[in-house]
Amino acid sequence: MKKNNSFLLDLIKSQKDNFSLDQSFYTSKNIFEIDLKTFFFNQWVFVGHISRIKNKGDYFLFKIGNESIILIRENEDKINAFYNVCRHRGSHICLEEEGRLRKFICPYHAWNYDLSGKLLKARMMDNDFKPENWSLKKCNSLVFEGLIFINLSDKPSDFENFINPIKDFIKLHGLGKAKIAAKKTYPTKGNWKLALDNFHECYHCQPSHPEYCHVHSKEYIQAYGAGSNTGPESKMFNKKLEIWNKKVKKMGYLTGEYSEKKFSNFFRSAERTPFSNGKLSETKSGKPASILMGDFNEFDGGYTTIGPSPFNSIIMTNDFATLFTFIPKSPTHTEVELIWLVNENAVEGIDYDINEIMWMWDETTKADKRIIENNQKGVLSSKYEPGPLSKMEVGLDKLKKWYLKHLELEITK
Ligand code: FES
Ligand SMILES: [Fe+2]
Repeated sequence: MKKNNSFLLDLIKSQKDNFSLDQSFYTSKNIFEIDLKTFFFNQWVFVGHISRIKNKGDYFLFKIGNESIILIRENEDKINAFYNVCRHRGSHICLEEEGRLRKFICPYHAWNYDLSGKLLKARMMDNDFKPENWSLKKCNSLVFEGLIFINLSDKPSDFENFINPIKDFIKLHGLGKAKIAAKKTYPTKGNWKLALDNFHECYHCQPSHPEYCHVHSKEYIQAYGAGSNTGPESKMFNKKLEIWNKKVKKMGYLTGEYSEKKFSNFFRSAERTPFSNGKLSETKSGKPASILMGDFNEFDGGYTTIGPSPFNSIIMTNDFATLFTFIPKSPTHTEVELIWLVNENAVEGIDYDINEIMWMWDETTKADKRIIENNQKGVLSSKYEPGPLSKMEVGLDKLKKWYLKHLELEITK
């Protein structure tokens, strides 16, 4: 263990069960940097959908910490991820956030690379210079069901291991045959853990989210609002779930849930649950918002929520999907990116109205941005001290324990 980490280890050990964390976990630059390395850089995180880069040479950038990653389509079947670092003297190569390229041309001395990252041309080099040794550096990446995952670790965990317990929940919804209906970023002035704490409890839903409470029942919000077992059990909801599970099994669709049973690098969850009062989709009216996706031939009255890692969430009705990516930017800034997907054959204005699709999560995420920012402001005060958690913040406490244990292992190895 590094010497300057003994202070952090003491701090980790002094955190109390069922309380929020000490101020420095939400403010310290040092902890933020360790966080990035330990958490974000160690996870498979999806950063976009294949339909964002449909044509050969289409690309977009994903930025985290000091890294800028280029996600680019090489051909119909292949998407590559490269570090945006020229092999000559290190300049960023792509400067625009997104675009289309025939090849990469570094803006500094014009080294050229093809879409597979191979160096094509470098002027005035020695005769023994071997271009084949100077390809762009690849970032671990993989496309699963249309989602582009990256992993910034030098020793990435096995993707199959990672995706296995949640893959059937994702596959059901046909995201590989989807297109982006809308995309929006919510810059949030709060530490990434405050943003995630908020996402892992539904204690705040009743005072802060009228739209969410309009769509979902009180019993669901209590027991499942931030995922299964994140609040006190509701007998009434369990009964509803049991009846719905039977009905949906008969229809031939997946039911059930997944949560982590033992500590590992992963923090995954998934579940399928029914809407209340005959609603069919996560819309204001409860009516469908678009045409069916994936395996569905008819609406089953439920939806699927998946947390592949703390940095992503996938929330899917039978007719659209909302993808979340939480991107830590600084100790007090997190970018929350939302992408709404619909069936690739759906036509805007005919099959779907974008406002109906975005309504709930757009309003809810704007409210979350506001409450996270207010939370951060209070946490920065000299008078902030960790406060006791309620029975509806079990999910938050679970995430917090996973975080602390992971951090402890990292700094003591
Ligand atoms: S740094 Fe890219 S060509 Fe020189
Ligand atoms: Fe919220």
